[in-house]
Amino acid sequence: MTNTNRSVLRSVASFLPARVVSNEELSARLDTSDSWIRERTGIGQRYIAEEGQLTSDLAVEAARLALSRAGVQAGAIDLILVATATPDNTFPATATAVMRKLGAGPCMAFDVQAVCAGFAYALTIADSLIRTRQVRHALVIGAETFSRILDWEDRTTCVLFGDGAGAVVLTAGGHDEHKGILACAASADGRFYDDLYVDGGPSSTGTVGHLRMNGREVFRHAVSRLAGAALEVVEAAGLTIGDVDWLVPHQANIRIIDAVGKRLGVPAERTVVTLESHGNTSAASIPLALDTAWSDGRIKGGDLVLMNAMGGGFSWGAVLARI
Ligand code: ACO
Repeated sequence: MTNTNRSVLRSVASFLPARVVSNEELSARLDTSDSWIRERTGIGQRYIAEEGQLTSDLAVEAARLALSRAGVQAGAIDLILVATATPDNTFPATATAVMRKLGAGPCMAFDVQAVCAGFAYALTIADSLIRTRQVRHALVIGAETFSRILDWEDRTTCVLFGDGAGAVVLTAGGHDEHKGILACAASADGRFYDDLYVDGGPSSTGTVGHLRMNGREVFRHAVSRLAGAALEVVEAAGLTIGDVDWLVPHQANIRIIDAVGKRLGVPAERTVVTLESHGNTSAASIPLALDTAWSDGRIKGGDLVLMNAMGGGFSWGAVLARI
């Protein structure tokens, strides 16, 4: 049956802070090395926000460019979702700060907190609101300032993450049955809450806290969850992995990306990897990678794109879209 109200990805854009922190710079103040970080993770550098540069500031830069590329006015947006685990303030939602800075709204606006899986979750929510005709134009953003929640003395975590933002404009697709989001999957398993968490929060300690991680456990679960979610959406759309033109995975670790690609049978040439330059930007990593490959001409109109992510919770998800 033809779905006449599919969500179409009209545009994507991204923004990175100016300051680059190389592995060498980290090695000068921590007991680590460029070779250890590259071999274990694939990361070569990361971008770090300036003092006073907020998650909403990064989000707004990406959002403005996404709106202009889509040819959609800020005032036409009727949903703003910001996937983030590093909001400007505990409340209100960073999405409302973005609304104010864009001069958008009034419209529905809230944050989606599913850590690294946040962008996949946010696309899933926006897609449902579009399909049920409550929303026509959605601005879906992944934005993070993870540098603010890192323990810069802990070499096992601080070398992995960076700051950044990416945004897409989704529009109700009318009668175009060939484009848009074909299937979404999102899930979580709270038994693994303690394997990747921040040791602070408004209700627990009253402090912001620092990221803590059981890296091996995350690694073990990431491969099976990411591959499982990818297969789920491909099957739900009545397609096969062989139909996928581009895998745009969450950028956590090159060894995770390679293992998932191998398990799914997606070759490295069809996988977008931005880890070397961006590090792990949590909810921002997929739209940053999508923008990179769309802007450099690898991803073209008509391509089938598979996005998958996993993070704290554990939470995971996947989205399959025809561009
Ligand atoms: N520099 C140098 N040595 C280090 C560093 C570092 N930055 N970090 C840890 N080491 C040391 C350890 O202390 C340990 O030393 P020891 O043997 O003397 O005790 C040694 O390196 C090996 O440590 P392991 O933890 O066994 O290293 P491993 O190969 O498992 O790699 C890593 C660690 C990269 C964190 C890996 O477990 C991983 O990638 N896990 C996935 C985590 C992840 O990607 N998280 C991102 C958030 S979740 C998500 O986005 C999916």
